Formats: sequence, C-alpha cells, structure tokens
Amino acid sequence: MAGASSPLLSSRKNSNLLLLCAIGTILVSALADGGPPVVFIFGDSTVDVGTNNYLPTRAKANFYYNGIDFSHAQPTGRFSNGYNSADLIVKQLGYKQSPPPFLALLQDNSTFQSNVLQGVNFASGGAGILDATGNQTWGDVISLAQQVQQFATVQGNITGILGQNKSAEFFAGSLFVISIGSNDFFDPILDNETIVPEPDLMAVLRSNYTAQLTVDTNSILQLLGDNVSPCLRKH
Ligand SMILES: *[C@@H]1O[C@H](CO)[C@@H](O)[C@H](O)[C@H]1NC(C)=O
Ligand SMILES: *[C@@H]1O[C@H](CO)[C@@H](O)[C@H](O)[C@H]1NC(C)=O
Ligand SMILES: *[C@@H]1O[C@H](CO)[C@@H](O)[C@H](O)[C@H]1NC(C)=O
Ligand SMILES: *[C@@H]1O[C@H](CO)[C@@H](O)[C@H](O)[C@H]1NC(C)=O
Ligand SMILES: *[C@@H]1O[C@H](CO)[C@@H](O)[C@H](O)[C@H]1NC(C)=O
Ligand SMILES: *[C@@H]1O[C@H](CO)[C@@H](O)[C@H](O)[C@H]1NC(C)=O
Repeated sequence: MAGASSPLLSSRKNSNLLLLCAIGTILVSALADGGPPVVFIFGDSTVDVGTNNYLPTRAKANFYYNGIDFSHAQPTGRFSNGYNSADLIVKQLGYKQSPPPFLALLQDNSTFQSNVLQGVNFASGGAGILDATGNQTWGDVISLAQQVQQFATVQGNITGILGQNKSAEFFAGSLFVISIGSNDFFDPILDNETIVPEPDLMAVLRSNYTAQLTVDTNSILQLLGDNVSPCLRKH
C-alpha cells in the first residue's frame, strides 16, 4: 500500500499468514543447503525495498518519515520506518538486508551480472496477484505476473553466466519469498469498483496465483524442487 497506511494495518492478520509461509520456505531451504541460499523476493509493499522509486506511480514511500529509524534516517522506498519484512527474513540467514530491487540493478549494466547472482527483489508496493490490482488506485505498479516475467529475464541472464547445469543447481538452492495478496482485497474497496465479484474472488486469486508460479517448464515451483514449503504445495 502507499500513503494510506490504514489498509496495511487492517491487513495485519493476512500479512502474518503470508509471512509465516515465507519463513517456512526459508527454514526448509536453508536446512537442505547448509549455507545461506541466494534470495529472490516477490510481492507488495510488505517487501518492496525501492522498486516503486523507479515507477510513475502514486504508491511511493521515498519520503520522510519513512526510513527514520535507519542509522542514516533516510527514506529508501521501503513502506516502513526502517527495515521491512524482506530485510527481517533475510537477516535471519545472515544477510545485512534484502537484495536490491531489480529496477535498481537495471540502472548499471556493468554490475548487473555480478549483482543478480547475489539475489534480487522484484516486489512493488500496491501490486497484487491480479494484473488489474493497483492500476486504478496507484497507477503503474508491477503485478506478480510481471514480477515473474522479470525473474524469467534474470533466470536467462544467470543461465547465460553459469551455463545450464550450474544454473539449475543455483536455482534449486535458492530461496523464493512471496508476500502478496492483500491489495487484491483492498483495491475493490479503495476503487469502489469490483473487478471480480466477491463470491468468486478467492477462487480467481488462487488459480491466478498458481498459474503465475507455473508459467513455463522452468517454473518457480520446479526450481524449488524438493525444497518447496508446505505453504506453496497447498494448492
Ligand atoms: C544497458 O544496456 C542495454 C543494451 O544492452 C541498453 O539498452 C540500456 O540503455 C543500458 N542501460 C544503461 C542504464 O546503461
Ligand atoms: C493499467 O492502466 C493503464 C492506463 O489506464 C493501462 O494502459 C494498462 O493497460 C493497465 N494495465 C493493466 C495490467 O491493467
Ligand atoms: C539479460 O537478459 C535480457 C533478456 O534476454 C537481455 O536483454 C539482457 O541484455 C541481459 N542482460 C545481461 C547483462 O546479460
Ligand atoms: C549437464 O548435465 C547433464 C546431465 O547430467 C550431462 O549429461 C552434461 O554433460 C552436463 N553438461 C555439462 C556442461 O557439464
Ligand atoms: C461507490 O459506488 C456506488 C455505486 O456506483 C455509489 O453509489 C457510491 O456513491 C460510491 N462510493 C464512493 C465512496 O465513491
Ligand atoms: C485471472 O484473473 C482474471 C480476472 O482478473 C480472470 O479473468 C482469469 O481467468 C484468471 N486466470 C486464471 C488462470 O485463473
């Protein structure tokens, strides 16, 4: 979410649920690997670390008092007074903070390749599982489907660098954190517009979510392999 923070607060229950799933994924992945996995993060404002700074959107957080609890007390684009869920999750693995936004890495071609090998954050505040979510309320935000497309680009880049076999190993040992879905519920309220009628909403969200994680033969679910958490397997 953006400036209006109340919808985010009212979603606390829902976010915690998503967070629990993410943490479940971490534990399984880290145990299987022995070392800290490279992390790829997808989602909304709960895990956006600056993606929206690069977008023509009203869902912005790069202004005071956001970031006030950092030692530098500067806003970063996080919808937070300091570190957010993305940072707090990867800190558990020994990282200092979330990997940078994909759109930030794109700014510098000379470091792009070495940077993507260390993880990427695709999350965009205001975005949802449905492409239309956030579009009316906030302007351009990056939906989960588009984030997965950006990941496919990165996957191609990494395969180019490491080769087929090594990159397969690389992704099998990586951790995927996904925190998204609350905006699909808030938006119809903020917009006063119904994209999907209430009785069907959960079913449509579930099938879109599943479809987005299984876009092609190199789907995220396949890349996760045996490390996939029970949360993702639920579908
Ligand atoms: C990066 O390289 C691509 C072509 O490979 C170019 O289109 C783009 O403008 C470059 N980006 C920057 C920030 O230099
Ligand atoms: C979002 O809105 C813009 C402008 O109204 C439109 O061009 C675009 O197709 C929309 N995107 C989606 C995913 O609905
Ligand atoms: C990453 O992949 C995209 C899509 O294939 C390509 O356009 C881009 O040039 C690649 N970037 C690098 C640095 O290899
Ligand atoms: C990649 O793995 C396949 C199957 O295990 C193997 O046949 C092939 O030789 C490997 N390629 C390289 C470049 O190591
Ligand atoms: C929402 O839409 C309904 C039906 O179009 C309208 O009666 C109502 O005034 C709208 N509410 C707001 C807050 O715009
Ligand atoms: C995704 O949601 C849209 C509504 O926004 C719906 O038309 C479409 O059928 C859904 N796709 C899947 C695969 O469920």
